[in-house]
Amino acid sequence: MLICPECNNSLDFTADLSGDITCRECSRTFCRTNGFISFDNESFAASQDYLANNDDAFIAAEDEATEARISRYFVPQLRRLGLESDARILCLGCGGGADVAALRALGYQNAFGVEMGWRSVWWKSRGRDADSLFIVGGNALPFQDDFFDLIICLGVIEHVGAIGSGAQLYPDYREIRQRFLAEAVRVLSKNGKIILSCPNRTFPVDFQHNISKSTVFKKVAAKTGVSFHSPRHRFLNSYQDIRAIASTVSDSLIVEPMPVAGFLGLSFKKSPYLRPLSSLFDQYLAVLDKMPSTLRMSFFNPYMITLIHHRDRGL
Ligand SMILES: C[S@@+](CC[C@H](N)C(=O)[O-])C[C@H]1O[C@@H](n2cnc3c(N)ncnc32)[C@H](O)[C@@H]1O
Ligand SMILES: [Zn+2]
Repeated sequence: MLICPECNNSLDFTADLSGDITCRECSRTFCRTNGFISFDNESFAASQDYLANNDDAFIAAEDEATEARISRYFVPQLRRLGLESDARILCLGCGGGADVAALRALGYQNAFGVEMGWRSVWWKSRGRDADSLFIVGGNALPFQDDFFDLIICLGVIEHVGAIGSGAQLYPDYREIRQRFLAEAVRVLSKNGKIILSCPNRTFPVDFQHNISKSTVFKKVAAKTGVSFHSPRHRFLNSYQDIRAIASTVSDSLIVEPMPVAGFLGLSFKKSPYLRPLSSLFDQYLAVLDKMPSTLRMSFFNPYMITLIHHRDRGL
């Protein structure tokens, strides 16, 4: 399953889980960081520059939110997609790895995760499996072609092409996002599916990032978790943006909106300002899911969750 990102030769990953891996073809050695193999293609060390948040309560809250989202949203969706328990699943940009652990606990034994940022520092203390998580960015994945049946990539695409952990973009952010998706499609099986999510650019509020530009709105966002932004804020993506990126990767790729109800969970409900609105918001999303799917592709939808697959291989 693993290949050397340098020369594409397959790597022997069956041996000692505590050892490094050396490619027999090009002799490059991939070492372990905190017990996890690091492919380090996007300077993991540099990503440590911005402060790792090691606050236990913060980590526990993220784990809890991720686990709840898997059971609340993903279990029914994976069933709907007809995914068997032996399906090969990749959580791309898996953060603390709670989604991989939750999927494995549910019986999806071939769930893996990759992450290049500071959340991978938590893996050891959270007791994650060293054979399920790899430190590597999405631009040169150490997996063979056509391998995964499902790739789950949540809240990552907006950070691809962004500078550090901020919302400022590199001038070539579009090409960086295209290369990121192309690499995901390379490791996806021909019948595979990608679930990709991001706050919807055309909806004026982002509940996850403080990207407001004016000082007043920045302060409001810091206090309430509600960040108002321009629908032209290119850090975020719309359905149309994801379609445009996908069309540069392959003209056989289809991008469809997935249901949104049940996806946004605890982070929203934890804010004292948003909590009173949360049941109204849940009802709004449930109604949105029942309306024609084009509405979910418009500014009516706060959160973009897309299903990407090759033509004629959908639901
Ligand atoms: C907001 S977090 C989301 C984590 C997790 N997917 C979740 O839903 O909780 C975004 C994650 O994407 C990771 N990320 C950003 N760019 C990436 C890239 N090019 N390859 C892999 N991961 C990336 C970041 O390091 C960060 O952990
Ligand atoms: Zn090699």
